[in-house]
Amino acid sequence: MTLKTGRGAAAPPFLVMDVIAAANAKQAGLPAGSPGVIRMEVGQPGTGAPAAAVAAAAAALAQGEALGYTEALGRPSLRARIARHYGEWYGLDLAPCRIAVTVGASGAFPLAFLAAFDPGDRVALSAPFYPPYRNILTALGLTPVILETTAETRFQPTVELLRRLTPPPDGLVIASPSNPAGTMLAPAELETIARFCHLSGIRLISDEIYHGIQFATPIATAAALSPSAIVINSFSKYFSMTGWRIGWMVLPEDLLRPVECLAQNFFISAPHIAQVAAEAAFECAPELEANVARYRRSRDLLLAALPGAGFPKLSPAEGAFYLFADISSRTDDSVSFAARMLAEAGIAATPGVDFDHRRGQDFLRFSYCGPESDMAEAARRLAQWR
Ligand SMILES: Cc1ncc(COP(=O)(O)O)c(C=O)c1O
Repeated sequence: MTLKTGRGAAAPPFLVMDVIAAANAKQAGLPAGSPGVIRMEVGQPGTGAPAAAVAAAAAALAQGEALGYTEALGRPSLRARIARHYGEWYGLDLAPCRIAVTVGASGAFPLAFLAAFDPGDRVALSAPFYPPYRNILTALGLTPVILETTAETRFQPTVELLRRLTPPPDGLVIASPSNPAGTMLAPAELETIARFCHLSGIRLISDEIYHGIQFATPIATAAALSPSAIVINSFSKYFSMTGWRIGWMVLPEDLLRPVECLAQNFFISAPHIAQVAAEAAFECAPELEANVARYRRSRDLLLAALPGAGFPKLSPAEGAFYLFADISSRTDDSVSFAARMLAEAGIAATPGVDFDHRRGQDFLRFSYCGPESDMAEAARRLAQWR
């Protein structure tokens, strides 16, 4: 007998995971002593959690803390510390009750989408986008509506693009700085979008996971610009704590209790020990700013070197740690191009098809959060490989 499978069983893979596997296989097959594969496919800081965060977790274990479930929306002290962070970074006075601690930003997406939308609702995303947005929306029975952005708007959505959607969507997901383009909405652009969405009844979901890693444009939070927006953030990027799996949301008043109820049922709580560590990470600014300074040096080096290495059309790299390269002058098949680059130059990068199903064959994403010496070596190898 054939059993039925659900909508979620059709979720497409997150292709970058396949590139990671290919890079691992290539590395494992290299003869001892030969130059290794340079990893520019993953968006994961190699630095690990800041020292005080690790120490806080170790102290909690050494003191025999019970570390049972926390409240569904997180440890009160962590929620209060996150709220204080909004005062420190954005001058925003935020009540701790507006904060929901989640299992990474990834754990926030289903809670936000389920609290805000019904099956069949249309949620706009600007392509290129972070693939799980689309895949989670689809798995939940929502309809992603793709807004194709271009280099002209720095791969960010505009109100003009949104106005073209008829009927208007029920929601909009934005990310600034973005993955994969590494571009940002200026504060005034974010404000225009936030205001338009609020007045049009479009629920704005602002993924602010790369805040703290910006190089010129100042950051603004949608929490300060719209009373109805949902803000999503995480300890994975600026705080360099990917595997600890802690993120958070800033919730509008109407979604506080719905998200709390969903979180109780879905997760009970985010990992307790990781919440302890995350709270201490706020006191690690010098270490974290040193990481950002390293990203900036790698970015500057690659922006200077890659055009001469056959990658002249690069996104402006305003934030996060990605360079989005238009490779249409070299190929119309970014998947084969990335495979060849891995095989011949020993550099792993992510083909654009993951981020933009229609135009992704023309793009490649380089992540530059790896060791600085690797980024310099990548520039050398790419110049030779072209
Ligand atoms: C734009 C964006 N949002 C969310 C996530 C998920 O982050 P987390 O590790 O907090 O689940 C990522 C991870 O790469 C990302 O790039």
